[in-house]
Amino acid sequence: MAEEGKFKVTIDGIALDVAPGTTILNAARQIGGDIVPPAMCYYSKLEGSGGKCRTCLVKVSKGSEKDPRPMPKLVASCRTTVMDGMEVQNITSPDVVEARKGVVEMLLINHPLDCPVCDQAGECKLQDLGYEHGADQTRYEFERRTFERIDIGDKIQLHMNRCILCYRCVYVANQLTEGREHGVIHRGDHSEISTFIENALDNDFIGNVIDVCPVGALTDKTFRFKNRVWFTKPVEAHRDCPSCSGKVTLWYKGEEVLRVTGRKDEFNEVDEFICNTCRFDKKKTADWTLEEPTPVDKQSVINANHYENFAPPAVIKEDAKLQAANVEQLARVERLK
Ligand code: SF4
Ligand code: FES
Repeated sequence: MAEEGKFKVTIDGIALDVAPGTTILNAARQIGGDIVPPAMCYYSKLEGSGGKCRTCLVKVSKGSEKDPRPMPKLVASCRTTVMDGMEVQNITSPDVVEARKGVVEMLLINHPLDCPVCDQAGECKLQDLGYEHGADQTRYEFERRTFERIDIGDKIQLHMNRCILCYRCVYVANQLTEGREHGVIHRGDHSEISTFIENALDNDFIGNVIDVCPVGALTDKTFRFKNRVWFTKPVEAHRDCPSCSGKVTLWYKGEEVLRVTGRKDEFNEVDEFICNTCRFDKKKTADWTLEEPTPVDKQSVINANHYENFAPPAVIKEDAKLQAANVEQLARVERLK
């Protein structure tokens, strides 16, 4: 029985009580670990985000206590709210794993495999997904969509070839800035991010499009090609900023601050959006009060050569079925050790 006023949901065999209205994705995030579905377009701080990329698909094997019928198709976990008694499968469902492979293949149809020269490499969720689910070869035989690079103001560059049309940057522009100069034009495979005749998005919070972009389509021109992220050392720092919280991550190479970003949580979302002044104009250690080294996910390349022993969630260790469903992930982590 769920706690009073809460719904009980079971995800990959792990049960928890959540508030009504919670999405399956957010319920999984409360559990944490490998069972959290990947999310390339949903961003909890951006209203209306989600429902675009389909990477978060899960299987609802029991609809609810009242109506236990399974849902006939896989559902987007970022857009589906839990019902009391719902049972969900993510990594324990071969159907989900298979569908995710298909989604990754589709996202990579037009996305160039230029990770070796892309500034997002090492922090790119599509790179991680490609590594986990990607096929060795493409089956796509047609010409790829290609675009010229566009400068959005003097600090941000848009490289549409890499865009997966997640709309996060559009929501940032709509929700954090005053004038709307940026959006998606055309439809279907003609869709593209446009700044309407390449207007510079000149606004104090527009730099956040760089942090929310899950791939390397929007990059920081003050950092472009300066270094690979895994050679840099992230450090938490703050300053007294009149426009934003001033809480950031400084990325050091030696004694030089190469870039400044918002602080990100384990789901790759920023804790707080930061202003352009903090991001682009404060690149001296003297501008900041340093706090501590940024905790880095042990599976991230930024943690290169510092991998700790993998500790699978207790439920996976105890359950033979979950172990069988996680064979690939366990093998990957073994390789990384
Ligand atoms: S540019 Fe980046 S954030 Fe914007 S829609 Fe494309 S992938 Fe998403
Ligand atoms: S994160 Fe759910 S559809 Fe993209």
